[in-house]
Amino acid sequence: MYCANQDGLFISQGIMINNYAFKIVLATLFWLGQMKICITVINKYIVFMHDRFVKQILIIAFALFMAIFPIVLFARYHHNDIIMQILTLHPRRFVAFVLLLYFLFGVLLFIRANIISLIRKLSRPFPPRVRLLERVCLIHPDAPKWTPPRIPLGLGRFLNSFNNYYQLEKSIYEIQSDNLPDDFDGLRVVHLTDFHFDGSLDDEYYDFCIREANALNPHIIFVTGDNISASDYTKQAVKKLSELQAADGVFFLRGNHDFWTDGKGFLAEMKKKGCVVLDNKAIRIKKGKSQILIYGVEHPWKRDIIWDNLLRDKRDIFTICVTHTPDNFRRAADAGAALTLCGHTHGGQIRLPFFGPVICPSRYNRTYDQGFFERNGGLLYINRGIGSTVPFRFRCPPEIALFILKKTLTVP
Ligand SMILES: [Fe+2]
Repeated sequence: MYCANQDGLFISQGIMINNYAFKIVLATLFWLGQMKICITVINKYIVFMHDRFVKQILIIAFALFMAIFPIVLFARYHHNDIIMQILTLHPRRFVAFVLLLYFLFGVLLFIRANIISLIRKLSRPFPPRVRLLERVCLIHPDAPKWTPPRIPLGLGRFLNSFNNYYQLEKSIYEIQSDNLPDDFDGLRVVHLTDFHFDGSLDDEYYDFCIREANALNPHIIFVTGDNISASDYTKQAVKKLSELQAADGVFFLRGNHDFWTDGKGFLAEMKKKGCVVLDNKAIRIKKGKSQILIYGVEHPWKRDIIWDNLLRDKRDIFTICVTHTPDNFRRAADAGAALTLCGHTHGGQIRLPFFGPVICPSRYNRTYDQGFFERNGGLLYINRGIGSTVPFRFRCPPEIALFILKKTLTVP
């Protein structure tokens, strides 16, 4: 049934939608779709840009586009039955039709990504080669000494009452590997990441994290990037992080924030303090007649297109790949790395019930958010990190992890 009016030709009077609540639901769906498209573009392309200024401008532009554009569109059309406006297909409505396709594409992308991540989550068993020995929250959320910092945008106290900052979680895992040389059986590896020194967190909190890391009696400590996120705090970062102690070395590399700030200066200072710098480099650690290989990858910020080939050459040696982003995991595992350690995602930083991680800067979207993943016999661990540039975490506490590498798992 067709009828004409001043807005063009309606397809059917029977599907006229006048229900305001339905329009709100529809607009929300479109908005989520629009967000999905923007977040995908940011995660896949913009986050990896080298120029911080251009990156920030683009992210602000996308954020405005993400939030304001759908609101303007809805405000413009909701008086006039948006669906009818679009289905009219009158030449004047062509732009509206293209917009509908754009939003529908976003909605499909959003639904697909969420279904895939849900299926992956449900079908992802805890790796049989890993055993959780202990998980404990080290700071009570109400400890008066650890007053959470002020949160931007003036949301202040209300948001802080949900804030997980300063609730440091300590996890201890055993990881079994047949390839581990006998001399390294029982190797204790502490993994720290994303300190983000920029003045937003309490000095005592950093001291606390470092004390806890040293108390785990590690043979090796890895700090996998985003050490500083403001150059003015390089000195503070050097002072605090040089207190980390491990028998076989403390290893550092850079994350995206280190590339945008004085990460190079920071690494130079840490080197002077006796730490090991892994800027796209491999280091062998020897015990008795055996050795293991530690491979530090700063890709994609320090570009090295052949790093996985270098790893592939050394398949006969037990290799740990340390890197900032989980996006390097697939290449590392395929090239033979037994264990890959990284940070970068902060576990999503805000983890909504049923929805999961909100902020996950990865080429694979929310696939690699936190914890263990397995591929081709290689393990990945994504650590939620210690700090962040925005000091707010929801259902996603900061983390310190200890891995005890074993030839055989201990029987409980
Ligand atoms: Fe980070």
